[in-house]
Order: sequence, then C-alpha cells, then structure tokens
Amino acid sequence: MGGKVVIKFGGGLITDKENMCTPNMHIIDSLVDILSKVEKQIILVHGAGSFGHMKAKKARLAEGRLPGLNQDISVHEVREDMLLLNKHVTDSIQRYELDYSTYPPRDWAAGDGPNFKGNLPLSDGITVVFGDVVDDYEKEFAILSGDDLMYRYATEIPDVDCVIFAMGGVDGLLKVPPSEATVNDLFKTWSPDMNFKGEHATEFDVTGGIGLKVTRASMIAEKGIDVWLVNGMHPERILELVEGKTTIGTKIVSGNC
Ligand code: IPE
Repeated sequence: MGGKVVIKFGGGLITDKENMCTPNMHIIDSLVDILSKVEKQIILVHGAGSFGHMKAKKARLAEGRLPGLNQDISVHEVREDMLLLNKHVTDSIQRYELDYSTYPPRDWAAGDGPNFKGNLPLSDGITVVFGDVVDDYEKEFAILSGDDLMYRYATEIPDVDCVIFAMGGVDGLLKVPPSEATVNDLFKTWSPDMNFKGEHATEFDVTGGIGLKVTRASMIAEKGIDVWLVNGMHPERILELVEGKTTIGTKIVSGNC
C-alpha cells in the first residue's frame, strides 16, 4: 500500500493531564501497536500534555522573552521534559521493533505558527517529531505546537493520503462542550462554515487547544487531503482510517466541498 499517513498523538491522550510529567504508557503502547499494523510510511507528531503545558504556562514561554522574568530554567526544563516524553514514545516504538528516527524541532525549526522556519526532516522509517520550545528570531524562543507541524508535514511532503488527529477522551468534534455531550452531539463531518463551541482549557493549554487543531485541520482539508479527528482511546479507529474505511470520528472537509 502506498501513500503516507501523518498522525498526531495529542498530549491529552498520551499523558495524564492532571499529574505533571506522567505518561499514559498503556495508551502509548496501544497506539504504537496500531502503528505496527500500518503498511504506509508514517509521520508521527506528538503533543506535550503534562510534560509541557504546565511549566510553559507558569513561565509564560509562549510569549517569548519577557523582561524581568527568569525564564531560562523553564526553557531548559520544558525541553528536557519533552525529550523524556519523546523517549517514552520511542521506547514503545522500539519494543515493537519498528524502524524510526526522532527529530526534536529545537534542532531544526524556528518560530511558531504555521509559517515556522525550517526544512521538515523525513526518515525512511517512522518520522517522529513533537511540540517543542524552539528558537524565535523576534521573541528569542517560542512554543511550536504539534498542530503546526501536522499542517506543514501534511501539506508539504508528497503522497499524504490520510491525516489523523488522535485525541484523548472525545470521539471527535462535538456540537457542545465535552462535559455536556451525548452520542448525538458528534459532528460526523465538519467544515469551517459550521459552528462549534470548543472548550479551551486556557488555564492549562499554552498553544491553542481544540480551536487550533480544527483550524489547522481545515487548512489541510482545503488541499484535498482527508483529515479526521478521532478518539485515540479506541486505536482501532485509526487503523480503519488508514485502510481507507470510515469510522467513528469527525471528518474535516474544506468549506468548498
Ligand atoms: C505543545 O505542543 C508543546 C509544549 C507545550 C512544549 P502541542 O500543542 O502539540 O501539545 P498538546 O497536544 O496540546 O499537548
């Protein structure tokens, strides 16, 4: 089977958001188990969850260098914590004896948002990248979200035929905040001309939460690529999508479709 898959394991999926630097190892293993069954080239982006957002929020790292604040320790610590989370992911990949290379964005990317600078590294095995604290030409450092990496990989490398955002605890994009949702509140398809009430945990999240994910997902869909938001706690749904089937989740379609 040809083609490439670009997939994000959201930080809220692979970590325990309530407890600092705690991975959800059984979820990571079950997701990697699914990757081991995928017969396409994989680009794996992972988020930060409790390995990134808490300390980054406290030191206001997303705003870049701020006078009067000592942020250097936090920049260092968040980078170290992200390497730790990345190691949990790649250790799991190794347990499944899959070929991979990991490329910390701090080593090759600069700036935040969809137009960050840097050439996207690519490996013959699984390419692993993650949301990170990167250098920034104006504000000295910035938080580059995995959602921006998703956009650039999905739209810049050739032959991508499936893009999946795997999230924690929700089946896709919901018509009402997750805490109020029933099974009928899942959007099966969504386009930018439809509304949704996303809950953004600003007290926790230093990037953009579901809003950023949906914005980047629609930018990818505009290029004619299939994009899905699915519940990563049901990893078999990922395999169904990769195999060209449909599944429970939200398919993002471009406004022009
Ligand atoms: C955030 O990356 C990176 C840091 C806070 C260092 P993401 O935006 O991709 O992370 P999640 O998926 O929301 O946790």
